[in-house]
Amino acid sequence: MSDTNLLAKKTYYVTTPIYYPSGKLHIGHTYTTVAADALARFKRETGHEVVFLTGTDEHGQKIQASAIAQGMDPKTYLDGMAEDIKKIWKTMEISYDIFIRTTDEHHKKAVQHIFQTLYDKGDIYKGEYKGWYCTPCESFWTETQLEEGHKCPDCNRETQLTKEEAYFFKLSKYQDRLIQYYEDHPEICLPASRKNEMLNNFLKPGLDDLCVSRTSFDWGIKVPFDEKHVIYVWLDALSNYITALGWGSQENPELYNKFWPANVHLMAKEIVRFHTIIWPIMLMALDLPLPKKVFGHGWILFGEDKMSKSKGNIIYPEPFIQRYGIDALKYFLLREFTFGQDGNFTNTLFIQRYNSDLANDLGNLVSRTVAMIQQYNEGVIPQADVNEPVDEELRSTAVGAADKVEAAIDEMQFHEALEEIWKIVRRSNKYIDETTPWILAKDEAQKPRLNTILNHLAESLRIVSLLIRPFMGHTAAEIQQQLGLAKVDLPLTWEETAQFQSIPKGVVVKKGAPLFKRLDIEKEGIALAEANEAYAAKILGTKKEEKQDSKKEDVKPEITIDDFAKIDLKVATVIAAEKHPKADRLLVLQLKVGEETRQVVSGIAQYYAPEDLVGKTVIYLKNLKPIKLRGIESQGMIMAAEDEKGLGMLTVDKEMKDGSSVS
Ligand code: MSP
Repeated sequence: MSDTNLLAKKTYYVTTPIYYPSGKLHIGHTYTTVAADALARFKRETGHEVVFLTGTDEHGQKIQASAIAQGMDPKTYLDGMAEDIKKIWKTMEISYDIFIRTTDEHHKKAVQHIFQTLYDKGDIYKGEYKGWYCTPCESFWTETQLEEGHKCPDCNRETQLTKEEAYFFKLSKYQDRLIQYYEDHPEICLPASRKNEMLNNFLKPGLDDLCVSRTSFDWGIKVPFDEKHVIYVWLDALSNYITALGWGSQENPELYNKFWPANVHLMAKEIVRFHTIIWPIMLMALDLPLPKKVFGHGWILFGEDKMSKSKGNIIYPEPFIQRYGIDALKYFLLREFTFGQDGNFTNTLFIQRYNSDLANDLGNLVSRTVAMIQQYNEGVIPQADVNEPVDEELRSTAVGAADKVEAAIDEMQFHEALEEIWKIVRRSNKYIDETTPWILAKDEAQKPRLNTILNHLAESLRIVSLLIRPFMGHTAAEIQQQLGLAKVDLPLTWEETAQFQSIPKGVVVKKGAPLFKRLDIEKEGIALAEANEAYAAKILGTKKEEKQDSKKEDVKPEITIDDFAKIDLKVATVIAAEKHPKADRLLVLQLKVGEETRQVVSGIAQYYAPEDLVGKTVIYLKNLKPIKLRGIESQGMIMAAEDEKGLGMLTVDKEMKDGSSVS
């Protein structure tokens, strides 16, 4: 290939959402990432230069609250969580090219650049925000959009009334342009039903300007010219798709120039609204091209509910991987559910699909083919000399599949792509039944015909192995291994799926272990349910242990007396205590510290009732920088110790005047 050809290589840019690192990722998150991975691998196989982006969305009130709940500062907490996420992608062999964290310096710089540009242009202006905020979704709502009892229309949890000085982004200015864009490019948002929902429910009724800064917490990217504001987390998060390519932080960003606009942003339906309204308008305001496609797939439900930590119905990928391997899990996710529609996840469905498609259809075909070649031709894949009409159907099914698979993948219909491949598998099994090689083997005169059949089966499997490779790399390699293809000089590339007879003479098969062992539905169902439960329990258990261990090994660097002198500890009396109106874990305490009264928000609600605290003498860290916790200012901190039995507050061992110094 000449250099010019190399330069002309087609590019493909696919993204997943950047996930909130506030808990361990579950099967739902792996669904999007597995789909993106198959797509990226498929595009690489078909000659594209690919960038596959994933990462973590690390700012916002929710993340800050998770860190506080763990008793950690956000960055330390997030470093650990981001590592956990990378670990699961490594286990699942997810072939991402870039992992972005929104706490990356280059991203922060670029987001500030975006904010400044939009402000300079007059598209962002200062005003006052009054409305309802849903912290778990990091979304603003107007009163009329709320469900009964001020509940968030997306997640049905309580929202909080918020009023603060804020910056606004003029979405309204771009609304007509965006409607026009959707009419001219109907393919940009798929499935079509989601695009219609966006147009009819949000865009056409009219867009309100969007509040794009917050002052009630500080875990975010600061507004560059007004540092008491942090940038709205969705503005920050959506920008990742271009900042990851170097836009906004590099002089002449090579990756951006080469890969933007994205070919597809993948996500589930609940965040399509952000990607089809806010994101394109941001890009329009920045004079940048819009992504080619936003695909909102359905939810994986568990017993009719969306899998979520708060509902306690989470299924993690690890037990499936341990028991059945990553290929089986990837296959199930992409084959069982129609990408674009909701689907119900059950262990039984998994086991049934595993048995029927993997153990019976594919596994048997491989072991029967290899065994017959060993038995009837001393392990050598024979050549085909005697063709009969029945062969043609198998040949055309096998050779015609690649185009259909490609078309299905381009439409993000992964289940259809796999179904096309399984048509070859099933056709091959039927071909064995129709041609009865075991009968032909009894008659020496039929040897040439028998050879042809064996050859056709091996060729079909070779094609199957190439077609499944983007979805199930290990299985593909194992089939090639058992067929003896891995050892010969045969191009095992996507183009070779269009060739039927390409296995050279003399290739020797090698029987291996069954690809997938058949499972007993009932017994395995029980064992799997137990494994899932045990895993979930272990996750919670280990978290606790890890926390205790990290406390045990919590050896901090030596300090001098001068360092210690910077800490202003006082004896204080609790004069009032109440529950935080917006957070179950927090109490709001009023402390008398000598002549002063100080307010402290403390994460001790699970250990102390407010009424038990009034009158208590506590040790108070006075000169800690004040911070707002869920909208209420906390001026310092009270001291407590924690072990596995719970939490105890520090006090003095005889009566003392409040305001006294502790040294
Ligand atoms: N941080 C935002 C995304 C910002 S993108 C600029 C966010 N994060 S998230 O951690 O909540 O991830 C949501 C995404 O995870 C969904 O859009 C989907 O891709 C995936 N899923 C999470 N649960 C899922 C199911 N139960 N079913 C299907 N997909 C699921 O939103």
